[in-house]
Amino acid sequence: MWGSVAVGNSSAVALEGASVSLGGHLVWRDADLEVAAGEFVAVLGPNGAGKSTLLKALLGVVPLSAGTVRVFGRPVRRGNDEVGYLPQRRRFDPDLRIRALDLVRLGLDGDRLGVPLPSRTKEDRVRRMIELVGASAYAERPIGELSGGEQQRILIAQALVTGARMLMLDEPLESLDLNNQQAISDLIRSICERQGVTVLLVAHDVNPILPFVDRVVYVAGGHVLCGKPEEVIRTETLTRLYGAPVEVLKTSDGRLIVVGQHEPVSYHPVDH
Ligand SMILES: Nc1ncnc2c1ncn2[C@@H]1O[C@H](COP(=O)(O)OP(=O)(O)OP(=O)(O)O)[C@@H](O)[C@H]1O
Ligand SMILES: [Mg+2]
Repeated sequence: MWGSVAVGNSSAVALEGASVSLGGHLVWRDADLEVAAGEFVAVLGPNGAGKSTLLKALLGVVPLSAGTVRVFGRPVRRGNDEVGYLPQRRRFDPDLRIRALDLVRLGLDGDRLGVPLPSRTKEDRVRRMIELVGASAYAERPIGELSGGEQQRILIAQALVTGARMLMLDEPLESLDLNNQQAISDLIRSICERQGVTVLLVAHDVNPILPFVDRVVYVAGGHVLCGKPEEVIRTETLTRLYGAPVEVLKTSDGRLIVVGQHEPVSYHPVDH
């Protein structure tokens, strides 16, 4: 319906004719999606549309009710070290005394099925990841004391520490200020480019990430659509996807606002 893409074995993600049902409810259906290795893709859509479900299907946590899913050319399996995952709404108790550095190391130690690494190699890898995300200055401090943006960098380091080739981040920009949203998006873009890591990032607002992403996946109305932002975030396209009138407005400073969606939750802060 939305134009399928040729699915090759070299792609990072390949969904074909995929549907997911949860608790007897069809979340989305007939999804065709191909993400190339090294791409930075934003996953957008209203609350409850099935964005988190899409990541979980790619992680092998939620089964498909129809179709096929492959990650790096292979059927999905849980606990795949090639995939780093940041679940939605991960917060730390302010009193949590574990150091940021130790939390990153847990990304390695938690991997009981993997080949045990000598502790020297582990330490090097942990330090390298902390440097990569620019968190060296606060790596020794308790995680609970760090700001949201600092915690987010530590969590990205933890997700990458096993040597992941793909990062799936579920709303990592939530509750960050605009500067931090841009800084984290910029960081993810550079990890994507420098390490060749494929990134799927769920976001509530496209604007802070728009300059950094290659493509967007839009989940709405029981469908999953992928394309360039300018192809997807358009009045006609989104109206078809939602199956209801939706209007995409562009403000004078170039921000995109989606209005008129029938879901009760607003898509953009200016709608509040
Ligand atoms: N285990 C479950 N059993 C039944 N329904 C579920 C289950 N998990 C999720 N759902 C439903 O599936 C739909 C999609 O949920 P999902 O969490 O993927 O949405 P989302 O797009 O990530 O939303 P949000 O923006 O609020 O995070 C929702 O209607 C949700 O209530
Ligand atoms: Mg979600």
